[in-house]
Amino acid sequence: MALKWTPESWRSRPLRQVPQYPDPAALASVEEKLRSFPPLVFAGEARALKASLARVAEGKAVLLQGGDCAESFAEFSANNIRDTFKVLLQMTVVLMYAGGLPVVKVGRMAGQFAKPRSADTETIDGVTLDSYRGDIINGIEFTPEARRPDPQRMMQVYSQAAATLNLLRAFAHGGYADLHRVHGWTLGFVERSPAGERFRELADRIAEALTFMEACGLDSSAVPQMREAEFYTSHEALLLPYDQALTRIDSTTGDWYCCSAHMVWIGDRTRQLDGAHVEFCRGIKNPIGMKCGPTSDPDELIRLIDVLNPQNEPGRLTLIARMGVDKVEAKLPALVRRVAREGRHVVWSCDPMHGNTVKSGTGYKTRPFDRILSEVRSFMAVHRAEGTHGGGVHFEMTGQNVTECIGGAQEIGEHSLGDRYHTHCDPRLNGSQSLELAFLIAEELKAARGAEPRRAVAAS
Ligand code: PEP
Ligand code: CO
Repeated sequence: MALKWTPESWRSRPLRQVPQYPDPAALASVEEKLRSFPPLVFAGEARALKASLARVAEGKAVLLQGGDCAESFAEFSANNIRDTFKVLLQMTVVLMYAGGLPVVKVGRMAGQFAKPRSADTETIDGVTLDSYRGDIINGIEFTPEARRPDPQRMMQVYSQAAATLNLLRAFAHGGYADLHRVHGWTLGFVERSPAGERFRELADRIAEALTFMEACGLDSSAVPQMREAEFYTSHEALLLPYDQALTRIDSTTGDWYCCSAHMVWIGDRTRQLDGAHVEFCRGIKNPIGMKCGPTSDPDELIRLIDVLNPQNEPGRLTLIARMGVDKVEAKLPALVRRVAREGRHVVWSCDPMHGNTVKSGTGYKTRPFDRILSEVRSFMAVHRAEGTHGGGVHFEMTGQNVTECIGGAQEIGEHSLGDRYHTHCDPRLNGSQSLELAFLIAEELKAARGAEPRRAVAAS
């Protein structure tokens, strides 16, 4: 590990989950073109996110990360981007009010296109083809042509990511994110949701707080924080040729930043200490995430932290636990305890999606809403018991009214899954389920605050 890092030092390490391209010359030519394109984000923005995440690590803020499991070319539209952004903002207001802390918002957006798969191939009716690995690599249709890895797809991802970011920046700073407007949408949700009564009190109190602030002169025209949002992008740094091509030296610090997103993370299948993905991520200065699954081991985790965050810089590393509701209580405490005992500064975040995927009786991959909520609750309980800050949540979600996860107040059942099942990979919470979840988590946050007014959040 002590060998010198370069943007391509990962190439001499064992590489998992990245396909062999049939035409290496075509791949090299795409990489060269991407290297000449402008960065999608700036190093200064990634540093600002790192500073905000440092506040989360200290227990003084909360992280909300969410978006598609896999973005796709087919689902690319202004409405999709707008609606996911909108629901993330609504969730933010609810969590911010209940937790009494700022919420750092990070989309799984503008680059989340590459997927790790549990099997390299897929067989249907006796025909075996390469698995679908996300639109940045191959196509989802079950034909030999579509499943062939095509490097040109990276060019389309670059342009889609650039357009997505452009719209997100406009929404975040152009008045769309105004707190009053966001809360107005939420009041509409409370009216319409079958669980609305339960959330009305909290929603009304937020409305009252906004009216009070306005009466004090703290309105959107006077206070930019009321009308603008800081919004960041992230994706799994899986397809390293793409992320390397967008890795640039920051002229103000001389450091390398991966400029395809503000934050990138290492997936549960590619977090090997000597693997290519850990090697790539250790040298870029962005805030990075790493998934921790049921096979994560405390000793190995500390060694990974040594490599990924040798300066023990708060905000640099977010550990995203994705244990599954039936394993979280058995597996998470040892990791949390060990990290705390060794004095490592990390953000702990909960991904209650990836350990809770089941196959429905009707053949769809789905996730029960109750299991998702239970894993978040258990995650928070573990942190309360350990005296640490369970600082973040990480969801696969969309603003669209899809039917991919079962349950929630809409009571989506197994037989409705086929109605609007649009995901290109894993099942996502729909807009209404996402906001409902935020309200339910808010109830937990409020209860925790009531029990231990400030200490529960002040782990620093
Ligand atoms: C994901 O976040 O989409 C993912 C594949 O997660 P994990 O690496 O935790 O399985
Ligand atoms: Co997923």
